[in-house]
Amino acid sequence: MIDVTNPLDFSTGKPQLALGFPNSAGQTIQQWLPDARVVKAFNIITSTRMVNPQFADGQADMFIAGNDATAKAQVADILKAFGWRSAIDMGDISKSYLLEAIAMTWIDYGVSRNHWSHGFSLLGAQP
Ligand SMILES: NC(=O)c1ccc[n+]([C@@H]2O[C@H](COP(=O)([O-])OP(=O)(O)OC[C@H]3O[C@@H](n4cnc5c(N)ncnc54)[C@H](OP(=O)(O)O)[C@@H]3O)[C@@H](O)[C@H]2O)c1
Repeated sequence: MIDVTNPLDFSTGKPQLALGFPNSAGQTIQQWLPDARVVKAFNIITSTRMVNPQFADGQADMFIAGNDATAKAQVADILKAFGWRSAIDMGDISKSYLLEAIAMTWIDYGVSRNHWSHGFSLLGAQP
């Protein structure tokens, strides 16, 4: 199961993370669905760029996290087919808090600039 969610709280009028270290939406979903092989992915990009992410100044990477190596390899294959440079495996599903913080960075940057066509890449990453 691919978890694309971010635990956003809009109650103040400005999106904020409702969960943070050591909690996360990804970890919570894995606890709700203990038999599912949950992989956190796609949460750091807007929906219109999940497939064929195109950026004028480079190729973007997607961060993923999950407990099951086979499921993560399948998601990495999907990401490759969708046009992502690479899937960067951050570890087990408990690392979802990192991916959700990256999403919050994406959102805050977008809100402050009213700019919605950005993405992340990890320069110098191991192949
Ligand atoms: N949109 C993006 O570009 C994007 C990108 C990356 C990640 N995400 C994440 O993906 C998730 C969904 O985003 P979205 O843009 O698709 O949001 P959305 O358009 O607001 O859709 C949210 C969906 O969740 C349902 N829902 C809300 N509260 C619920 C509850 N208590 N029980 C059951 N269903 C409930 C809503 O049902 P009703 O319609 O019946 O209210 C709706 O179908 C969010 O966590 C978001 O942060 C979104």
